[in-house]
Amino acid sequence: MVETVLRVDELRVHFATHHGVVAPVRNVSFQVNAGETLGIIGESGCGKSVTAQAVMGLLPVRSSRVEGHVHLGETALHTLSRNARRQLSGRRMAMIFQDPLSSLNPVMSVGEQIDESLRLHTSLNRAQRREKIVQLLTQVGIREPERSANAWPHELSGGMRQRVMIAMAIAVSPSLLIADEPTTALDATIQAQILDLLAELQQQTGMGMMFITHDLSVVARLCQRVVVLYAGQIVEETDVHTLFANPRHPYTRALMAARPSLDRAPKTALPEIPGRVPALDALPIGCAFADRCPLAQPRCRAQPPGLRPVGLPSHQVRCWRADETGVLAS
Ligand SMILES: Nc1ncnc2c1ncn2[C@@H]1O[C@H](COP(=O)(O)OP(=O)(O)O)[C@@H](O)[C@H]1O
Ligand SMILES: [Mg+2]
Repeated sequence: MVETVLRVDELRVHFATHHGVVAPVRNVSFQVNAGETLGIIGESGCGKSVTAQAVMGLLPVRSSRVEGHVHLGETALHTLSRNARRQLSGRRMAMIFQDPLSSLNPVMSVGEQIDESLRLHTSLNRAQRREKIVQLLTQVGIREPERSANAWPHELSGGMRQRVMIAMAIAVSPSLLIADEPTTALDATIQAQILDLLAELQQQTGMGMMFITHDLSVVARLCQRVVVLYAGQIVEETDVHTLFANPRHPYTRALMAARPSLDRAPKTALPEIPGRVPALDALPIGCAFADRCPLAQPRCRAQPPGLRPVGLPSHQVRCWRADETGVLAS
């Protein structure tokens, strides 16, 4: 049986802003299985990072409200107090970000930072922790691990810093790793090495991964299933093969149509689609993509489409015209 490490049901996030209350994440549901990588894609501002922060319990308490259910394994995170949730999250899930420097403490050595997490979340003694730190640094491919443990974050390259972040993330053997564009700031060779490392660690540990990215080549390389977000909603969810072979939402199709072919192009960032994501304080009544959609009809602007299966039950699309967008129809 497949073990589900994360289940998110009807996640909604509201922010209080100067323009009133906005909803950057609207009824988002998905799950991540053990050993599996779920990709989350979509243009900038679509709610990818806010979704990740809501799952991790990292959103500001004062200015945000989170609704919906988040289960980590059998544990209902949404029922826990903030402190209990922190404790548990620290042990069973971890997150890595685009910019490791902003999440590393500049005045603590690499070893001390990993040690902090081990002290907090494991019962290892000092000598055992020291051994574990060297083992972790070795595992993430850092040479001379004993010496590197004494290095300051600023003494390391961007790629090495990301490896340190990964070492910190896997220090507590999490069942879920959330990666928010962790390789976007790195050059192509280093990016490939980091992706290989993550895939290898996943093989070893069986952890589930939720991988947020702009880059379709990363999706092709790492993910088994993909969620496409648009204006805070899932507009398509499917396996990675179908995403590339038979995308059905006009937004996904626009992303795919404009992409350079995977074997020719070194750079496969999400292409530009004419128009813009609607502002959160001016979301349309109907489909949020209608203003940019070549297939939009009056109904699309009048009524919001629901997410529904097309073909396989595992392929879900939020579009009134999804039945007309199949491979044969295009
Ligand atoms: N703390 C916050 N307060 C108010 N608005 C926010 C906050 N964080 C993000 N947003 C807004 O929520 C929307 C989604 O942001 P985000 O999830 O970061 O997008 P992305 O898909 O690029 O990761 C954006 O419009 C962003 O400006
Ligand atoms: Mg983001």
